[in-house]
Amino acid sequence: MYKVTFISSIEPYHLEVQAEANSMLISSVRSLVSDGKLQLAWRCGQGTCGACKVRIEHAGSGSMVTLGGKEKNVMIRHAGLAADSPLTIPDTPELVRLACHIQIKSDLTIYVE
Ligand code: FES
Repeated sequence: MYKVTFISSIEPYHLEVQAEANSMLISSVRSLVSDGKLQLAWRCGQGTCGACKVRIEHAGSGSMVTLGGKEKNVMIRHAGLAADSPLTIPDTPELVRLACHIQIKSDLTIYVE
């Protein structure tokens, strides 16, 4: 189990949950969103609509991350990633990611906008 901490700058809150190792972030929080305990927008749950934008900080922040081709394409259309970006890019807390594509492999801090 890993600790996932959600922080929002729009509606101030700080929420900590435990998530199964290797689970997908969106799957770990669907019930929290449905119950109104977490303000995280999502629609498709399949990684294609771009609604579940988050920023992430974790122990590996600052290293490089390799995006999947599908995530990269959605990020180009919905998250401002440059079309000519390589698949491997710096993994910084400023990088917008999609919760549908995040596999939980460590404690995470998730910034929801
Ligand atoms: S909810 Fe559609 S990409 Fe995540």
